[in-house]
Amino acid sequence: DAAAPASGIHQPGITTPVQEHLHFAAYDMMARTTRDDLAELLSDWTYAANRMMQGLDVSATGALGGSPDAPPDDTGEAVGLPASNLTITFGFGPSLFDARFGLEGQRPAGLERLPAFLNDDLDPLRSDGDLCIQACADDPQVAVHAIRNLSRIAFGRATIRWSQLGFGRTSKTTASQTTPRNLFGFKDGTANILADDTAALEENVWVSASEGPAWLAGGSYLVARRIAMLIETWDRTRLAEQDRVVGRDKGAGAPLSGGDEFTAPDFSAVGPTGKPAIDPRSHVSLAHPDNNGGIRILRRGYNFVDGTTDLGRLNAGLFFLSFQKSPDRFVTLQKALSTDAMGEYIRHVGSGLWAVPPAPAAGASIGAGLLG
Ligand code: HEM
Repeated sequence: DAAAPASGIHQPGITTPVQEHLHFAAYDMMARTTRDDLAELLSDWTYAANRMMQGLDVSATGALGGSPDAPPDDTGEAVGLPASNLTITFGFGPSLFDARFGLEGQRPAGLERLPAFLNDDLDPLRSDGDLCIQACADDPQVAVHAIRNLSRIAFGRATIRWSQLGFGRTSKTTASQTTPRNLFGFKDGTANILADDTAALEENVWVSASEGPAWLAGGSYLVARRIAMLIETWDRTRLAEQDRVVGRDKGAGAPLSGGDEFTAPDFSAVGPTGKPAIDPRSHVSLAHPDNNGGIRILRRGYNFVDGTTDLGRLNAGLFFLSFQKSPDRFVTLQKALSTDAMGEYIRHVGSGLWAVPPAPAAGASIGAGLLG
């Protein structure tokens, strides 16, 4: 999107119409790696990502064109599949900005581990990472192929720390997309920031040149939260209570103050019993910009079901992904949600924050502005 003058060129996978599938991975640089190793890795990743986003193998030799006596460059499971709208988005975590890579002076002030929030139950093995890659595609095999091959290319330099598969988008980034439903069965993404809302994106998502640092202008900050959803408990909850918890009607997605899905919620409206039509502790009330100093975020999360737990419950939830121009915007919202009526039905079990640099200039590598 070169049209956005203040902030240059953005990486794909942010305002891109949300695809149906996700493979997200966090990486750590290996011990004793240097700034040169990092620069080389980012250059190799950029090259392979650009090819894969065009539906090509990771190299010209690819899956089948190499010597029969060597392992192929590309693992091959995407041979014959179209690009499937694959986007690959790279992020730099707080822990990357240290003396190993001579980056200790370049960490933006806000880029630090997110603070602990009430009801967090974070698993360190599902949190953080020096680097992250978000691969989204309309074919799950294409998304997995991307992460698998980028992990392979990282050999000897970075190792995968954790990864997450997601199916079924839980947001929309264009008006023409239907609003999908999350695993609570509610429409999700109704009030999201849309790709054509340039003013809202400049205001809420893209880091401007004056907000800095210079290498991040046109970029953003990515928050990932693995949120377990206690769906068995939810599924035993009365429909009217489910509506109250969200603040919207489960069928149409309309705010409980009335209207249709896209009617603005009216927090002063009074219901038949004389109480506010939208419970002030509902998710929508607490998350709404009117109650948070105007803060909006671009949500891009996915459903997940990772088998079953030891208790025989579905290990299900929402892999929450959001883009915002500063981490404190997410922190403000997440703090506001500390009394969320939905809190009883969810548990945050993984977390990460990364700076997402702008797209590289033609021929340059991701992060070239940072590494020089
Ligand atoms: C809105 C579900 C976590 C921020 C909504 C809506 C639903 C929903 C159903 C209403 C429809 C819409 O506008 O999209 C969930 C579920 C979550 C979750 C199931 C966890 C499993 C979060 C978190 C945040 C967040 C962690 C941010 C810290 C928002 C915002 C809105 C929203 C900003 C729009 C509010 C508005 O402007 O009306 N969410 N959400 N949500 N959610 Fe969540």
